Amino acid sequence: KALIIDFGSQVTQLIARRLRENGVYCEIHPYQNVTDASLKAYNPKAIIFSGGPDSVMREGSPRPPKAAYELGVPILGICYGQQVMMHDLGGRVEAGEHATAEFGRAFVTPSSNKLDMLEGWFEDGNEQVWMSHGDHVAERAPGFEVYGTSPGAPFAITADVKRNFFAVQFHPEVHHTPNGNKLYANFLKLAGFKGDWTMGAYREEAIARIREQVGDKQVICGLSGGVDSSVTALLLHQAIGDQLTCVFVNNGLLRKNEAEEVVAMFTENYKIKLVYADESELFLGELEGQDDPETKRKIIGRLFIDVFQKYADTIEGAEFLAQGTLYPDVIESVSFSGGPSVTIKSHHNVGGLPEKMGLKLVEPLRELFKDEVRILGRELGLPQSFIGRHPFPGPGLAIRCPGLITREKLAILREADAVYIDQIRKHGLYDEIWQAYVAILPVRTVGVMGDGRTYDYACAMRAVTSVDGMTADYYPFSHEFLGETATRIINEVKGINRVTYDITSKPPGTIEWE
Ligand code: XMP
Repeated sequence: KALIIDFGSQVTQLIARRLRENGVYCEIHPYQNVTDASLKAYNPKAIIFSGGPDSVMREGSPRPPKAAYELGVPILGICYGQQVMMHDLGGRVEAGEHATAEFGRAFVTPSSNKLDMLEGWFEDGNEQVWMSHGDHVAERAPGFEVYGTSPGAPFAITADVKRNFFAVQFHPEVHHTPNGNKLYANFLKLAGFKGDWTMGAYREEAIARIREQVGDKQVICGLSGGVDSSVTALLLHQAIGDQLTCVFVNNGLLRKNEAEEVVAMFTENYKIKLVYADESELFLGELEGQDDPETKRKIIGRLFIDVFQKYADTIEGAEFLAQGTLYPDVIESVSFSGGPSVTIKSHHNVGGLPEKMGLKLVEPLRELFKDEVRILGRELGLPQSFIGRHPFPGPGLAIRCPGLITREKLAILREADAVYIDQIRKHGLYDEIWQAYVAILPVRTVGVMGDGRTYDYACAMRAVTSVDGMTADYYPFSHEFLGETATRIINEVKGINRVTYDITSKPPGTIEWE
């Protein structure tokens, strides 16, 4: 196994991800927790020093333990990790001046020395890399040679081949270093890894960790039917069986058949203990008369917590709360909390239960990215229909029903949405689309059907492509598809006589209407 010592880079998890992609098990340990003794106990086959925001010249800035250099295992230092290595081993780092600071794309030129770790690099001359540094190495440590330079980093790639210490100024783990993965692959090979670790092994390890953390205590888990909470629930179930109780809250704002499908899937297929909390009357009652988006969100968020707490209290001996927090959620809450950004929407989801519940958290997906969670889901035997599901927001149909929420409008919306999704599936487009739904608009329009006048609701279809939900493009359906779907909705759904297609991207729009 490999060890990543984290000095606080925003992209440390990407290093872990690259290692996993190369079939290598690794753990990330914050530098504060790594001592000579803990390092020896961990017994890594290779060590990676991550980047970080600090400057090695600052008194008290982060350092790896001395033992790291004495274990005789390969080390790869990245950015701050390079600087700290040079500094510790007798080189010199200089503060950045404007002229030498580099942020963004840069090109590294090879030196005449050859290095095994660079196999597959420089085939077309220069190599594009991603830099993000103010300071830079000014003098290399004894034993190190230079293998690549960039305009702002004369020591872009350095290595001491005798000791297998490698230190680079750029970030090979990010997407903008296109050949970065080759560096990792070569480094890991050189460290003697066979690359045979898989998500199946991750699952085994996650299960062992859950067992160790939870012992014989009871765990509760909010299940929404989304990928993250489903995978969390299944993993826990495999780890601790009946010590897990899931709570599924029906807030009256779910899509057609959603509650039935989720409940059936988890109780019949998996025999998971599940409390079905039908609180739709409560939610819809409190939402009556509300038409402001933020007010709706706040009400739903608050009720969800109350309800969850109420059911959690009935589960005897519950000491742990399992949540499907993913790595991007961790990063977002760390880097944006207290930041200057404005609140566009008060997001809420099952993963956002408050700490004051007095339960300890179990978050087995904390290190993973969404696509890795999907792979893990497959590993756990979760059917594709669940794994590939579009995201569904915590506040549900409330935010797809601009204006006042009524039971009548929700019923119409459910039907229209079901027809729309059915069309998308029939045309084989579901997996190409990040998210698709119908919103019912707070206007009624005049139409003519048969020989009669209609005065019914208008609706908007929405479908977007996106990588992470932060930005999005509308999906370019064919006119045939749009026409056919509009006709089906109007014919099959009583209460709708006009259909529009929303072609706003994000920004300036958001994915949901509210
Ligand atoms: P917006 O509308 O902000 O949505 O562009 C981006 C993504 O987030 C989902 N979304 C939510 N998810 N709780 C959630 O769990 C929420 O309160 C919430 N609001 C929006 C939205 O469906 C899209 O995938």
